[in-house]
Amino acid sequence: MSHYRRVVWAIACAVVISAGACGEGAEAASATPSVESEFPAGDPAVGTSSGEMRTIEANAARVAAGRELFQGSCVSCHGDEGEGRVGIGPALNSESFLAAASDGYLTRTIYLGRAGTTMPAWGAGFGREGVENIVAYMRSWRDIEPVRLDDAPARGDAEAGAVVFREICAACHGNSGAGYQETANGTGIGRAAFLAETSNGYLRHIIANGKTNTPMKPFGRPAAIAVANLTNDEIENVITHLRASAW
Ligand code: HEC
Ligand code: HEC
Repeated sequence: MSHYRRVVWAIACAVVISAGACGEGAEAASATPSVESEFPAGDPAVGTSSGEMRTIEANAARVAAGRELFQGSCVSCHGDEGEGRVGIGPALNSESFLAAASDGYLTRTIYLGRAGTTMPAWGAGFGREGVENIVAYMRSWRDIEPVRLDDAPARGDAEAGAVVFREICAACHGNSGAGYQETANGTGIGRAAFLAETSNGYLRHIIANGKTNTPMKPFGRPAAIAVANLTNDEIENVITHLRASAW
């Protein structure tokens, strides 16, 4: 597919809010690849614990190849340098995001897309190699050390978490957590496609520290910029609620 057609396709995806039916793969095959078949256990892109945050070896050629794919297919929704477009595509070059997102998480998200949202599955079009080149390019934006994530099971109270979600998070993420399809700016954090790929460590880190340079403020710190300050227990409750009610 030419770059021109890719851009047109991407723009079509941005306007048509159609679930999972976007991306090059959608033209050839309608079935979205499953995580199990594309990323079997033992694959370096599986696992999001702090020990496996960086698995892709970058070099100048990979970064250049990734930049070309990104410019051809991603900027229409995520911005020229991954700065994001509110309500269209989340920021990808945010510091706290790049610190908490493992290479495996980025690879799988780009490869599989996010079913039910406008984020297409790119795996069928670019292959594993192309997707990993994009991740190498994304890493070239900023020199960011991976953070240590606490991937322990969520141990909160789902009902208490539902109250926090309704009172604080729903304003931006939607009452059902559908994200852009329901509200103007937050992503679809209630969706199974997101939660299946997301570790508890990632959720804990982003909720506590926010996403730098986006409306997602830190909730875990007594900072003046926070919308609300949550205790660690309340953060556990929200994560437990999200996991319990993923759809
Ligand atoms: C048609 C618009 C669109 C295009 C084109 C697009 N994305 Fe996305 N992307 C989205 C949306 C919308 C989300 C968030 C979906 C949600 O969870 O609500 C997203 C999410 C992501 C995420 C996860 C971010 C996070 O906060 O967890 C990554 C990584 C990503 N996209 C990378 C890419 C890359 C790389 C490309 C190009 C190959 C691309 N996207 C092309 C719309 C798009
Ligand atoms: C003022 C609006 C706002 C509020 C309130 C808010 N968020 Fe967010 N959140 C956002 C936005 C906007 C993003 C995506 C940022 C971007 O564009 O990159 C986001 C991103 C996230 C992400 C990362 C999602 C992904 O795709 O990687 C998580 C997790 C999250 N929020 C959880 C929460 C939780 C839990 C609450 C309630 C305690 C909450 N947010 C409250 C605006 C908000």
